[in-house]
Amino acid sequence: GRIQDRLLLMLRNAFVFALAVAAAAHAQQPIERRIDELVSTMTIEEKLGQLSQYVPDQPELKPVLGKGLVGSILSGADAPARNALQRTALDGSRLKIPILFGHDVIHGYKTIFPIPLAIASSWDPEMAEISARIGAREARAGGIHWTFAPMVDIARDARWGRIAEGAGEDPFLGSLMAAAYVRGFHAGGILACAKHFAAYGAAEGGRDYGTTDMSERTLREVYLPPFKAAADAGVDSFMSSFNALNGVPATGNKSLMTDILRGEWKFNGFVVSDWTAVTEMIAHGYAADRKHAARLALTAGVDMDMVSDSYRELAGEIGAGGVPQSVVDTAVRRVLHAKFKAGLFDNPFTDESLAAKVTLTPEHRAAARRVAQRSIVLLKNEGSLLPLDRKPRTIAVIGKLADSSEDMLGPWAAEGKKEDTVSVLAGLRAAAGSDIRIIYVPEDPAGAVAAARDADVVIAVLGESREMSGEAASRTSIELPGNQQQLLEAVAGVGKPVVLVLMSGRPLAIPWAAEHVPAIVNAWFLGTEGGHAVADVLFGAVSPSGRLTVTMPRATGQVPIYHAMLRTGRPASAEKYTSKYIDAPIGPQYPFGHGLTYTTFEYSDVRVSAPSVARNGTVTVSATVRNSGSRAGDEVVQLYVSDPVASLVRPIKELKGFRRVSLGPGESRRVEFPVGRNELQFWTPLGWVVEPGRFEVTIGPDASRGLTASFEVTE
Ligand code: NOJ
Repeated sequence: GRIQDRLLLMLRNAFVFALAVAAAAHAQQPIERRIDELVSTMTIEEKLGQLSQYVPDQPELKPVLGKGLVGSILSGADAPARNALQRTALDGSRLKIPILFGHDVIHGYKTIFPIPLAIASSWDPEMAEISARIGAREARAGGIHWTFAPMVDIARDARWGRIAEGAGEDPFLGSLMAAAYVRGFHAGGILACAKHFAAYGAAEGGRDYGTTDMSERTLREVYLPPFKAAADAGVDSFMSSFNALNGVPATGNKSLMTDILRGEWKFNGFVVSDWTAVTEMIAHGYAADRKHAARLALTAGVDMDMVSDSYRELAGEIGAGGVPQSVVDTAVRRVLHAKFKAGLFDNPFTDESLAAKVTLTPEHRAAARRVAQRSIVLLKNEGSLLPLDRKPRTIAVIGKLADSSEDMLGPWAAEGKKEDTVSVLAGLRAAAGSDIRIIYVPEDPAGAVAAARDADVVIAVLGESREMSGEAASRTSIELPGNQQQLLEAVAGVGKPVVLVLMSGRPLAIPWAAEHVPAIVNAWFLGTEGGHAVADVLFGAVSPSGRLTVTMPRATGQVPIYHAMLRTGRPASAEKYTSKYIDAPIGPQYPFGHGLTYTTFEYSDVRVSAPSVARNGTVTVSATVRNSGSRAGDEVVQLYVSDPVASLVRPIKELKGFRRVSLGPGESRRVEFPVGRNELQFWTPLGWVVEPGRFEVTIGPDASRGLTASFEVTE
């Protein structure tokens, strides 16, 4: 009886599976067939139109919109405005190919989530996924089909303002975040775009749009992995970056856009240029004129021209001697495919009543608050000053950022409005209740000192305003801007306990505060619910659990600084002739992975499952983590790998795994990590290799500490 039942069940499953495969093939076919039909009937002008993207107020758009000569529009107002553009496009055109609407939905649409650098600090890809799903849902109701996110550029120079938009310095963590964003955008119903391909974050000196020059090894090991992860997660498009890479502008870079992306990675979506990046190849000194630039970009594999309006100029140059017809057709097919995927041929318009129903809902706000809570990093907490107890008292809140819901939104806040956003001051007031008196002084030092004298505790909210990070917002100094340092010193001089809440789009250098201020909370820009989240952490409703995904330097002059720096022949030490600066202590202010909680954790008993393993094998590395404090808390257990002797100089250590564990007081857990080819290999002129020899593995709470064990990889 049982065996027959099982056989029957297997047969039935096989049948259902075969049906599903057949149905999928059938559903697939008409799309490909319809694309074939369209491509075979399109004129060259119509084809190049599909490869052109405009902003609504661009003068070049008007004459072509109603003629079926526009592929995509970016930015714009709302669903009614996008519907109107769509109507014009469809009514006038011959082939009725709908417009694909793109937008920068980076960390939410109307409900704004923390900036991506903050979300990464959660070390919890689910937070990225949630934020993307909700952002996508709200954006879709606004008539948007496609976001220019995730931004997956690795950034190791905090002067670069766009460090705010990515996951930080590390490719392992960055790859997990990249994939999570893609899943989230898809779950929310829009297409995603991995940007900026590639190595945009390595701009020389952190100057935005600056050039990038790097080895193939660094490119492959550090800058490309998050893009590969996005491709593997099914991202729909890539955006070419502004920078030149080793002398070739990314937008004209065939090795990136075709050989690596399509050839090696088998990516079959489309590539859009960044904003006017096609014709910027003239300023790069790489293209002679607009036509030349257009030809270089299209043949390199950039399917859509954002805003330059240059592809249209190729109409007379297709075929013999110019751009091959097949290049144009392939690009058009990719764009049409995306439009089918987005469901545009079934329904090109957006229900205008939807936005009111799905935007800024209580659920979305609750999710934004939860993500914000988990994005906060507690950098320092001397004498357990935090959490603040709730007994009747007076709190002085200092700093104009405290009262700024506008700044709380951070860069790239899409349709986020300050009116919908909770500032730190508003969050504190809401949480404080009537027993706690709050005195607020924005920036007057004398007033701040007087308030501190009257108070039991001071909360100083300092850092950057929102426009100090993001695009075109590089800084030469990443110390506290303006007179905030003086303000902080004046207030601290009163002698009351001070909590410093930092708002910023990048890691800041805060050497004085790190030494003299007892409690420091890194709050980045936390979005719509930011003020509540800060209050939740300060008053202890939530135990902070974020960890840095960027190394915090002691001074701007230390950047670039990151945990996976390559070894040198003279590692920094007290010896004079070693690799360091003479005017700063060795090492960062706070290491990569650092972040405190309201409890403490102890590590013990690190072990490797076998003393040796073959090149393609896997060992398990494990350690016990115990909550040794008196409160529940989350620990982010981190695994670092290093290869002490190799045929190429290797990083001091590299993050290769992490687990977030929630432990009650006294509770402990064995945490395990698999270590195999993916964790051990590096890029050589022969490709990825695992070299035999000894490897060291460290399990710990941040990149500077932990318990180390080792094992041998055999031939
Ligand atoms: C330029 C930025 O570099 C890119 O990230 C963004 O998606 C586009 N502008 C569109 O706004």
